Amino acid sequence: MMASVHSPSRGCIDIRDVTVSFSQNGASLDAVSGISLKVEPGEFVSIVGPSGCGKSTLLNIVAGFLSPTRGEASVDGAAIRGPGADRGVVFQQYSLFPWLRVRENVEFGLKMQGMCSSERQSKARTLLGLAGLLAFENHYPDQLSGGMKQRVGIVRALATGPQVLLMDEPFGALDAQTRVVMQEILTNMWQQLRLSVLFITHDIEESIFLSDKVYVMTARPGRIKAEIPIPLPRPRTAEMTSSPTFVAIQQQLKALIREESLAAMGGELADGGLGRDWHLGSEGVRAAL
Ligand SMILES: Nc1ncnc2c1ncn2[C@@H]1O[C@H](COP(=O)(O)OP(=O)(O)O)[C@@H](O)[C@H]1O
Ligand SMILES: [Mg+2]
Repeated sequence: MMASVHSPSRGCIDIRDVTVSFSQNGASLDAVSGISLKVEPGEFVSIVGPSGCGKSTLLNIVAGFLSPTRGEASVDGAAIRGPGADRGVVFQQYSLFPWLRVRENVEFGLKMQGMCSSERQSKARTLLGLAGLLAFENHYPDQLSGGMKQRVGIVRALATGPQVLLMDEPFGALDAQTRVVMQEILTNMWQQLRLSVLFITHDIEESIFLSDKVYVMTARPGRIKAEIPIPLPRPRTAEMTSSPTFVAIQQQLKALIREESLAAMGGELADGGLGRDWHLGSEGVRAAL
């Protein structure tokens, strides 16, 4: 297949048969097991799954904060050996420096790279403009709303020009209205900057709205349960969320995740001392969901 001149050539994430084990109370427990997934250059890929299934563990592997026990993860063919400027990371909690102004926060990584002041400033201002934050460049983080802080966090992660953006439930702490605005800003920036994004969320609608492809994980130990392509055109619009395609995928994902949430809750109930009898209460669990 011939690559289009417009498609980005870098930012391919390849996770091959990755298992991560942690030791807990002397025993070894698999957090994720035999996971393989791929993000093509420029693709927006989400991972959804029940709490505790290993989503953050997987993202931390790609970020280079954690090494797989077995298997391998690479970006553009190079095995991941630690964090790097080719990968930007955004977490749920805002991690801005409170003593620096918005633009200084964005410029921080560039300063570390030795870029001169005027170049830094112009780069930071361009990105802040894309995120609708230019008017706030001289504010301090505590003068901003949660949504604005997270926008600064995204801009900061993008400032050093990564090919890959890794996001771990970045909008989880925001209210529903702000979330929708953030989703639109993020897709807008993603389209303009031509990045690959690996996005973790437990919000099904969010995963469909944003992604080209959604992976569903099983309850712990996390495995890939399904890979769902999202054939909706770009740019995505709010109206699409009520289209038959969107609704059908939403139902499919809901059913897949519900099964896994029940399995995860069953495991917790069993861990809590109810042992094999937990399933006797599963109708109650079902009713509660
Ligand atoms: N550093 C660690 N040491 C021991 N267990 C861990 C560690 N990090 C995560 N885990 C366990 O691995 C599993 C997956 O965790 P995590 O990746 O945070 O899940 P998720 O992000 O899907 O909620 C959980 O059972 C968690 O308790
Ligand atoms: Mg997590």
